[in-house]
Amino acid sequence: MRRARIAGVGHYVPERVVTNHDLEQLMDTSDEWIRERTGIRERRFTAPGVGSSGLGVKAAEAALAAAGWQPADVQFIIFATLSPDLYFPGNGVLLQAALGMEGIGALDVRNQCTGFLYGLSVADAFVRMGMCDRVLVVGGEVHSTGLRMNTEGRDTAVLFGDGAGAVCVEATDGAGNGCLLAHRLHADGRFAHELTIPKPGALNNPWLTKEMIDDGLTSPKMNGREVFKNAVTRFPEVIEEVLAAEGVAVSEVDLFIPHQANERITEAVRKRLRVAPEKVYSNIARYGNTTAASIPIALSEALAAGTVTRGSLICLAAFGSGFTWAASLLRY
Ligand SMILES: CC(C)(COP(=O)(O)OP(=O)(O)OC[C@H]1O[C@@H](n2cnc3c(N)ncnc32)[C@H](O)[C@@H]1OP(=O)(O)O)[C@@H](O)C(=O)NCCC(=O)NCCS
Repeated sequence: MRRARIAGVGHYVPERVVTNHDLEQLMDTSDEWIRERTGIRERRFTAPGVGSSGLGVKAAEAALAAAGWQPADVQFIIFATLSPDLYFPGNGVLLQAALGMEGIGALDVRNQCTGFLYGLSVADAFVRMGMCDRVLVVGGEVHSTGLRMNTEGRDTAVLFGDGAGAVCVEATDGAGNGCLLAHRLHADGRFAHELTIPKPGALNNPWLTKEMIDDGLTSPKMNGREVFKNAVTRFPEVIEEVLAAEGVAVSEVDLFIPHQANERITEAVRKRLRVAPEKVYSNIARYGNTTAASIPIALSEALAAGTVTRGSLICLAAFGSGFTWAASLLRY
């Protein structure tokens, strides 16, 4: 049976490390407050002039090298980001031009923290239906340029970081050498305003004003408690759903890679599912929340560390703005 599998994974994070102590110089916060509530110790911030498409290009190059593909082998691009370089066109075409892959389709996904999993599920469907043999899926974010680096913006400024990850998805003729097994995608738009960047937007006329910037409306607004409450319910729910789709028990999964939102959320989910700590990947201490990039970065690191090898059963899961939540199960 025709299936899709992951042929290669890569990631890239900017060199500039910003610690919690660095943030203490900019706003009324403390390393202790941030670590206790989120598990974050540091994050990466991009260099001037390098946007999320640029980070995505570097991650894509690493993924292509890992898969043994040339740019000309890619037949379709999917780019997930909430922080595109431009209002339009999307990052997919920018990455395509940078890598010299002119002519192939490029789809942009705007599903925030679940964007990579939504994108991966589309790649899987396109490959399974025979539309493409090789798809590049990228998640990349630059948050640092949109955060308010002062006390007024501290509730979200301390959470987010920049980075990108990418996977090469290719056709395979069976599950013998690994394949994407199942995906479950959900959303509840009633919570759309609980985690959002409210402005600018074409709803407004004009769509951007100085007042919007001065009022802090062009940086993230978050109802942290509502996000937390929903995340700790939706994560286990969707993980159990995707495992049930394949008749897999929690104990059979070799590695869970949750979206890196908050160590306390990950820990609550881990306990609810009764999973051993070593079976849950975490790198939030080093990168903070990199939204659509967090899962491919973690997968790439887990592969490099040998935590994941060919044959491993991996469950990816995410929750975030929308609200949206999703999970994928794969045999690597
Ligand atoms: C954001 C979060 C860490 C806040 O933790 P919390 O325990 O709910 O903290 P509260 O919001 O009650 O804030 C407690 C106090 O800390 C203050 N505070 C907020 N941000 C702060 C910061 N960076 N540094 C220091 N103090 C801060 C608040 O102003 C508040 O002060 P007050 O009691 O004087 O009003 C928590 O709600 C959370 O993790 N939510 C999920 C966020 C998330 O994962 N988002 C991404 C989803 S993809």
